Amino acid sequence: MPRLLLATGNAGKVREIRAILGEAGWEIVTPAEAGIFAPPVAEGARTYSENAIAKAVSAARAAGLPALADDSGVEVDALGGAPGVTSARYGGPSMRDDHDRNALILRRLQGLPGPRRLARFRAVVALVLPGGRVFTREGVVEGRIAEAPQGANGFGYDPIFLLPDGRTMAEVGDEKLRISHRALALAALRPVLEALKTSLT
Ligand code: IMP
Repeated sequence: MPRLLLATGNAGKVREIRAILGEAGWEIVTPAEAGIFAPPVAEGARTYSENAIAKAVSAARAAGLPALADDSGVEVDALGGAPGVTSARYGGPSMRDDHDRNALILRRLQGLPGPRRLARFRAVVALVLPGGRVFTREGVVEGRIAEAPQGANGFGYDPIFLLPDGRTMAEVGDEKLRISHRALALAALRPVLEALKTSLT
């Protein structure tokens, strides 16, 4: 099987991307598993796409392998689209973890009724080949911010992201692997991975 380097240190993303691409016929390896050090990329860009490409380029160059990276976030309409592309750093250095960031968003939306709590998860995945070719695909899931965290699965903002059926993304279990922003972006990338695999084998 051809190897695909997963350019992320986020354990939640690694778990999901592995499960989603399980049957795609690629051996998915993290930099640590491949014994590769990819120089860290400052996620300072204004778009998910630029960040995802930068992460994948760094990994593909370091490894000489096709590399896949994801950049994602949650966009809350009542916060002007924040945290968006800065989702991982929202609230600044005083935030200890995702739990603190969720609490901050809930505080900022306190008292707002459901229709004013609209939000979406967005993910852009970038596949970069060692020769420099770049493919990007995007996935979006619409929802709203819950009144309080619900559910114990998933990671990050999942417990406060309500889907239209009233469950949060942290309550849907393995269904997340079909319906999430990341799953949709990877589904769109799948034909590219299939074609590439055929040309490599
Ligand atoms: P980045 O893509 O590594 O910049 O991280 C994006 C931020 O959004 C992190 O804080 C993640 O925890 C969060 N995030 C990304 N994807 C998801 C998801 O599927 N569920 C919940 N939070 C997510």
